[in-house]
Amino acid sequence: MSDFQLIVIGAGPGGYTAALHAAKRGLKTACVEYREAGGTCLNRGCVPTKALLHASQVYKEAQNAAAIGVTVDGVGVDLPAMFAHKNQITGKLSAGIEGLFKSAKVTYLRGRGSIPKEGVVAVTAADGTVTEYTADNILIATGSVPSMPPIKGLDLPGVLTSDEILEGAEKLYDSIVIIGGGVIGGEFATFYSDLGVKVTVVEALDRMLPTLDKDLGTGLAMALKKQGVSVFTGAMVKEIAPAEGGLTVNFETAKGPGSAFGEVVLCAIGRKPYFDGLFTGEVKAEAGKGITVNEKFATSIPGIYAIGDVSSKIQLAHVAAAQGTACVDWICDKENHMDLNLVPSCIYCRPEIAGVGMNDAQAKEAGIEVKVGKCVMGANARTMIEDPGRSFMKIIARADDHKLIGASFMCSRATDMISEIAQAIANGLTAEDLLAAMRPHPTFEEAMGEALEDLVDKLNK
Ligand code: NAI
Repeated sequence: MSDFQLIVIGAGPGGYTAALHAAKRGLKTACVEYREAGGTCLNRGCVPTKALLHASQVYKEAQNAAAIGVTVDGVGVDLPAMFAHKNQITGKLSAGIEGLFKSAKVTYLRGRGSIPKEGVVAVTAADGTVTEYTADNILIATGSVPSMPPIKGLDLPGVLTSDEILEGAEKLYDSIVIIGGGVIGGEFATFYSDLGVKVTVVEALDRMLPTLDKDLGTGLAMALKKQGVSVFTGAMVKEIAPAEGGLTVNFETAKGPGSAFGEVVLCAIGRKPYFDGLFTGEVKAEAGKGITVNEKFATSIPGIYAIGDVSSKIQLAHVAAAQGTACVDWICDKENHMDLNLVPSCIYCRPEIAGVGMNDAQAKEAGIEVKVGKCVMGANARTMIEDPGRSFMKIIARADDHKLIGASFMCSRATDMISEIAQAIANGLTAEDLLAAMRPHPTFEEAMGEALEDLVDKLNK
C-alpha cells in the first residue's frame, strides 16, 4: 500500500484546493510546499495587490474627501506600513490554509517536492534532508514565475518583477515605467498613480488588456491618462539602458522609436509555467512551454496529473482551483459539473474591469450572429454617488435563441457582478431569463437590468 492515495505538489490556490477536496472525498492526502501556503495568488499576486490597491484607494479618497464634505488633515503615505498591512493579511490567510489542512487531515509536507520515479515524491527539507513518499496519484500544481524575455538590459538593477515589487520598499519611487499593459500592468499603474508616482505604461499591442473587449482596454487607458499616467500602445520594448537617477526604456512604434524614463522599471509581460527540477529521474512528463495534459489533466505518465499555471493556457487562481477540484473528482470517479471553459477575468483598477465569455469581436470571428446591449452608467445613482469614472456594461446574446454568451463590465463592483452573467451563460439562460427577477434600488446592478433591456429590444427588432 502507498503512503498516500494522493500527493499534491504545490500549495497554491490550485494545489491547496485540490488537497482539501481530495480529503473531503476520503483520499489519504498530502500536500508538499517549500514556501508559504497560498502560492503566488495569496503571497505574490492577487491578494497582496488587492490589499495595496485598497490602501491606495483610501489615500486617494481621503485626498479628495473635501469635495463631499469630509475634511481630512495631514493625509500621507506610509509605504512600509502599507506593505506591513498587506503582509498581515497574506500571513493570516496563509496560516488559515495550514489550519484547514490540519482540520481536514491533509498531511502538510514542508520542503521542495520532486518526482524521482513513477508513484514516488521526494521532499527535500530546508536542511537538505530528503524523504521519499509513495503515492497512488501525484498532482503537480507548481504554478508559474514571471517571464523575462530576452530584452537587452532586463537584468539591470532597478528592473523589477511583480514578485520583487511586492516585497516592499522604504520610500515611494518618483517614477516608474511599466512594461506590459496587461493585468499586472493595469493594476500597478493604478496603485502607483493613486499615490502620485509618475507612471508610464508601454504596451506592445494596439491597446491595453488586448485579450479582452476593445472598450475595456481603451477605457482603462483613458482612466489612467486621466490620473496622469502616460500610456504608449503599439510600442514594443527593445532595450533598457541605465540613465541618470534611473533607467530609460527604449521602444519601437509604427511612427518610429520612443523612450520613457523611470527611477525603476516593472516588467509585467506575462508569466511562465514553473517545473524546473521537478522530474529528477528517468521519468519525465511531456511538456512544451508548460506540462502537457489531456482534458482530464492527466500527463503523459500514468498516475501523474497537472493543473493550474504549470499546465493551463489561462493562468488565474480561480482556474487553477476549479481544475484542481475537477481533477480530484475524476481521480475519484465522481462527476464534476463546472464549465472549465467559462472563465471570468477581473482587473482591480478603477473603475473595476471584468469580462466573461465572448466579446462581440470574438463572436464575429466565430461566425456567431449576436446583439449587444449596453448601459453607460452616468445616470446610475450609485455610480453618481461614488464617482469611480466613466462606467459601462455590455452584455451579448446570440441573435437566434437569445442565449447569453458574454459580457464586459467597467464599473464599480464589476468583479463581483460578472458572476451573475457567468452563471447565466453556464446554465444556458437567455437575456429575457435574466430580467425575470427585479433588481434592488439603488445599486450598480440596476445598470445590468438596463443593459439587458437594451439587449432584449435589439433582439426583438
Ligand atoms: P498579461 O499577459 O496580462 O499582459 C502582458 C502584456 O505585456 C501583454 O499585453 C503583452 O502584449 C505585453 N508585452 C509583451 N511583450 C512586450 C514588450 N516587449 N513590450 C511591451 N509590451 C509587451 O501578463 P501579466 O500582466 O504579466 O500577468 C501575468 C499573469 O498573471 C496573467 O495570466 C494574469 O491573468 C495573471 N494575473 C491576474 C490578475 C487578476 O486576475 N486580477 C492580477 C495579476 C496577474
